[in-house]
Amino acid sequence: MSLALTKVKVIMNTQETIALFDKYVIGNYSRIPNVIVKGEGSKIWDADGREYLDMFPGWATSAIGHCPPRVVAAVKQQVEKLIHMDNTFYTEPQGLLASMLSERAAFGGKCFFCNSGAESVEAALKLARRHTAKGKYKIISTEGSFHGRTMGAMTATAQPKKHQGFLPLVPGFIYVPFNDIDALKQSFDDEVAGVIVEPVQGEGGIRIADQKYLEAIRELCDQHGAVAIWDEVQSGMGRTGKWFAFQHSDVVPDIMTLAKALGGGVAIGAIMAREEVAASLVPGTHASTFGGNPLACAASIATIESIEAENMLENARTMGRYAQEKLNQLKEKYNTCIDHVRGLGLMIGIQLNEPGDEIVKKCWDKGLRINCTQGSVLRFMPTLNVTSELIDQAIAIMDDAFNEIYSQERTNG
Ligand SMILES: Cc1ncc(COP(=O)(O)O)c(C=O)c1O
Repeated sequence: MSLALTKVKVIMNTQETIALFDKYVIGNYSRIPNVIVKGEGSKIWDADGREYLDMFPGWATSAIGHCPPRVVAAVKQQVEKLIHMDNTFYTEPQGLLASMLSERAAFGGKCFFCNSGAESVEAALKLARRHTAKGKYKIISTEGSFHGRTMGAMTATAQPKKHQGFLPLVPGFIYVPFNDIDALKQSFDDEVAGVIVEPVQGEGGIRIADQKYLEAIRELCDQHGAVAIWDEVQSGMGRTGKWFAFQHSDVVPDIMTLAKALGGGVAIGAIMAREEVAASLVPGTHASTFGGNPLACAASIATIESIEAENMLENARTMGRYAQEKLNQLKEKYNTCIDHVRGLGLMIGIQLNEPGDEIVKKCWDKGLRINCTQGSVLRFMPTLNVTSELIDQAIAIMDDAFNEIYSQERTNG
């Protein structure tokens, strides 16, 4: 087949692309009306040639930058050898990746691979129920959590607004306030199969689980024969300055979920489970056609190699401290608008006293991408190899944006 026969048009202007979306793509996202055509490191470019500094790359997915060179090279190499192979066979990249993840998580885990965060949560929930003794089925999750959009993951997501229009939910879920040990104890009984928690809530507004809270979950799970699931889809893979956020506390899970940054931008999800728990997923119990395919695994191996070769865990810790310091200076300047800054490594939230959408939009218009969650928490989550110069540039734009909104408010009286 001649390549000239391809119907894929490669150069369209912004309006033409948006028109295609309006006509043919389901409108379930509220999109910014720009077409992004290129990414490199912490920068992205739109179809009109405008450059943006990306301090929220891929909602934490492009954590080692857009088009990271090692990942690009690994994908190119793998794509010429073997793109897909089903799990009827063994493939080297899947085995290698599982060993690399298990060594770094260091709790004796074995992996199952899938393609997204929600799928990893589904796998974790199914494994929790299957592994625990007969009669156990309840799953406890924490208010403000986010675990994905499939039925099980959505039910685990303890935010009623995410459930609207999709009732009835999956039975057996119990919601408890985050970081409240007493409430957790009261909800526990011998029917509980598992507790799922994010060591740092991401969509919930960068809320960090107390060490004592994680310890209490661990203890209660052990007492009642339930499994502890740490959802590290957003906080994992170096985001907080350790491979996994739970390693700040060293309270180990029975199951951990991963996705987002795992593939350096290529779609891949995973769970890791303690060997004894993992043993419950025998053939026929769970599967994923694309899960663990050689292409995604090669990208993920290259991601891990990049993080280590470029010392990104250390950089995330240093730059995390630097960014928080600079953002705190911004807070001093706009202290009626900014309440406080919180975070772990490069997972940083700026709690505002007012809605954050206007600031996000103003920053975008000035060439900076940040995000707002829960209405009033700005998320500042740059690449793990971000420099102090890029952080300075980003915060200068934020300063400008705050300044304009404030002086406008003053002018408007
Ligand atoms: C903690 C957590 N779990 C699960 C998910 C769902 O991931 P996905 O969108 O890849 O299904 C997300 C997505 O934001 C997340 O932050």
